[in-house]
Amino acid sequence: MSAIDVSIIIPTYHEAPNLRELLPRIVSILKQAGLAGQILVVDDDSRDGTDEVCAELATQHPIELLIRTEERGLSSAVVHGMQHAGGELLLVMDADLSHPPEKIPELIEALKSTDADFVIGSRYVEGGEVDKNWGLFRWLNSKVSTLLAWPLTSAKDPMAGFFAIRRERFESATFLDPVGYKIGLELMVKCGCKKVAEVPITFQDRLHGESKLTLREQLNYLRHLYRLYEYRLGVLARPLQFLMVGCSGIVIDLAFFTLLMRVLSFDPARAVAIWLAMSWNFCLNRRLTFSHARGENPFRQYVLFCLSCLVGALVNLSVSSGLFRYVEFFTDAELLAAVCGIVAGTTFNYVLSDRLVFRVTKPK
Ligand code: GDD
Ligand code: MN
Repeated sequence: MSAIDVSIIIPTYHEAPNLRELLPRIVSILKQAGLAGQILVVDDDSRDGTDEVCAELATQHPIELLIRTEERGLSSAVVHGMQHAGGELLLVMDADLSHPPEKIPELIEALKSTDADFVIGSRYVEGGEVDKNWGLFRWLNSKVSTLLAWPLTSAKDPMAGFFAIRRERFESATFLDPVGYKIGLELMVKCGCKKVAEVPITFQDRLHGESKLTLREQLNYLRHLYRLYEYRLGVLARPLQFLMVGCSGIVIDLAFFTLLMRVLSFDPARAVAIWLAMSWNFCLNRRLTFSHARGENPFRQYVLFCLSCLVGALVNLSVSSGLFRYVEFFTDAELLAAVCGIVAGTTFNYVLSDRLVFRVTKPK
């Protein structure tokens, strides 16, 4: 058993004035609650006096400052802090006083006394609130981000940066790969946290300075979500992406066909639309579905992809017409025969793409 009950991890970037106020408050709250705590400030070389504030307080309190000079980023700072933490329980919070330190004991208690494996200081459960100054845009932004993560977690506020987890559970994650701000979401998914408890909090706008949440971070969130879905889907991720790309190809095909019919006759319009859709599918599959093979020669891949589409089409045609002609059941069910052809053709196309077109030949 560790002598430290809880390690409080605070990622910071230019937060010296906020830390001066926050740290003593945390210390006294921990004392009142009878918790043996350790505070880890993970700063990305702000050089704004953070080191002085921490050094001053560290003479009397269990405060440790970890400065990173080689790396930047909220999520990786949190992971860094967690890896250095000595406590049984790990709690993460912002430095800007957005997260009420008074709620720390409640979060810890929920983790200790229930079977929850992740506890969130939540704005979106009964009793929780966001800052009154939040405009519609900020609120919508937060809600849409939350909605996009809904299939990944049942939590009402998975975007929160105020949360607690057992160290054991954190260490069980095999592969953490956070891009952006949503480290809590990353941990819930990758540490397999099934039971999430949420303690209501009022989220205050930051005391000093400005939020570091930029448009770039928002785009990072989309990348992050994409990776989390891939992770969650496991072996199904590739075939599902392939299917979705195929569906988008149908839209491209029909859209261009409609346009081209204004200037061309049926056959050439069909041919050009099919070729455009096939090229579209190639680009998306290369970029997304089989992104691991992006280092390979694209021309070779493109030619092979077109050939594999041709083979898929031939399989499609032979299966459907074979069924229609030789299997009695299908003589009255042409559409069903066509569907079987599509399934067989698509499967063939996928297998060829996976095994041949986007095979990785170069060693890494
Ligand atoms: N070490 C380090 N490195 N810390 C950082 C960095 C960085 O690159 N960027 C931000 N931080 C620290 C800030 O100093 C602050 O303590 C905390 O991370 C949150 O940053 P803010 O800039 O205050 O972010 P926010 O208020 O927009 O976002 C907060 O709310 C979101 C939900 O609305 C954070 O809690 C997010 O995690 C949360 O998703
Ligand atoms: Mn903030």
